Amino acid sequence: MESSSPATPILEVATVTKRFGGFTAVDDVSFRIQEGEFFTLVGPSGSGKTTLLRMLVGMEKPTSGELRLRGRVINDLPPNQRPTCMVFQSLALFPHLSVGRNVEFPLEIRGQRSGERRTRAWELLKLLHLDPNRYYDKNIAQCSGGERQRVALARALAYDPEILFFDEPLSALDARLRKTLQKELKDLQRGTGKTFCYVTHSLEEAMVMSDRVAILRSGLIEQIGRPDEIYSSPKNAFVAEFMGEVNLLPVVGTGDATATWDTGRKTLALALPAPLPAGAAKKLLIRPESLRFLRADETAGNTLPVRILNQFSLGSRLQYHVEVAPGCTLTVERLREERVTGDTALLGWDLGDSQLLDA
Ligand SMILES: Nc1ncnc2c1ncn2[C@@H]1O[C@H](COP(=O)(O)OP(=O)(O)OP(=O)(O)O)[C@@H](O)[C@H]1O
Ligand SMILES: [Mg+2]
Repeated sequence: MESSSPATPILEVATVTKRFGGFTAVDDVSFRIQEGEFFTLVGPSGSGKTTLLRMLVGMEKPTSGELRLRGRVINDLPPNQRPTCMVFQSLALFPHLSVGRNVEFPLEIRGQRSGERRTRAWELLKLLHLDPNRYYDKNIAQCSGGERQRVALARALAYDPEILFFDEPLSALDARLRKTLQKELKDLQRGTGKTFCYVTHSLEEAMVMSDRVAILRSGLIEQIGRPDEIYSSPKNAFVAEFMGEVNLLPVVGTGDATATWDTGRKTLALALPAPLPAGAAKKLLIRPESLRFLRADETAGNTLPVRILNQFSLGSRLQYHVEVAPGCTLTVERLREERVTGDTALLGWDLGDSQLLDA
C-alpha cells in the first residue's frame, strides 16, 4: 500500500450514523481509506454494509457525521459529481446492448467520439481477459455469469473513477469462478493503482484480496486491521467465528489459569493460556490445525479422550469431527501423514495455541 500523503486519506468516514426511522443501520462508524488501498467491509446480512456504500457513492445521506474525500466534506455532493463508481451484485448491465456498447456507455455520456470509445473499450475488454474479437459485438444475454461480471468491471473502469465500490459482486458465482475473479480483481487493483472499497459477507474472500478489512456487526465496526492481524488476533468470538471453521469453547473461570467447559452432558476442566477470574465467562479459541492426536507417550497443555465421528479429505490435509462428550464436537485438521485409525483417540493442544476471547 503506497500513499504520497498518508496524512490525508482519499476517503474518510468520520463518526457516521444512518437511521431509518427509529432503526440505526450504521452506528457511529469511523475509518479511513488510503489512496491505492484495497479496503473491504465484511459482515453478516443486515450489518449495514450496503447502507455504508450507498452513503459513500451519494445514494443515501448520513443522519450525522461526515464523509470526506481528500479532506473535503462530500455529504451533500450528488452521485454524478463524485469521482466514484459502484459495481452492484446485480451488475446493472444493459441487457439490450452488446458487450462493447455496455463498456462504452460511460464514455458516450461524456461525449467521447466513437473511434476513441471503441479503442478504449477494446483495451478494457483485453484487460479483463475478454477477447474483443469475440466479445465486443456479443449480446449481454448470451454471456455467462462470469463474463457479465467482467463486462461490469470493464464498464466501471471506463468511468475512470478515483474509487471503485463493489457490493458483493461475486456472490452469485460458483466457488471456483469466484476464486479466479478474486485473484483477477486483486491483480486489476494492483495494476491500475485504483482505490477499491469492497463489500462481502465472506471473511475468507476479504482476506485473499484486501490490504485492510473492517468487520461490521449490527452497524458497528468490531475490528479493523490487516488480514494477518485479524487472523492472528481476532478481537472477539464474533470475529473469530467469521473465519470459518474454528473451535470456540464457552469456558467459565475457576481461578488462576483454569476453567470449566460445560459440554452439555459433562463438565470438563481445562487449563487456559492466561488467568481468568473465577466466574468470568469467555470463549476459548482453538484452530482446527492446533488440535492434534497424541501418542500414548505424548503430553499437551490439555488432553481429552475423544471419539472420532468422521474424516474428510481437504487435499493434503484431513479434517476430523471428534466427539468430546455426547452432542459436543470439535473440528481437527491434520496432515494426511498423521492419519489416525480406530474409533477413539487422545486429543491435545498446547496452551499457547489457544486464545481467550470475549463472547
Ligand atoms: N431504506 C431503508 N429503510 C429502512 N431500513 C433499511 C433501509 N435500508 C436498509 N435498511 C435496514 O438497515 C439494515 C442494514 O441494511 P444493509 O442493506 O446495509 O445490510 P447489508 O449489510 O448490506 O446486508 P446484506 O449482506 O444482506 O446485503 C437492515 O436491517 C435493513 O433492513
Ligand atoms: Mg447488502
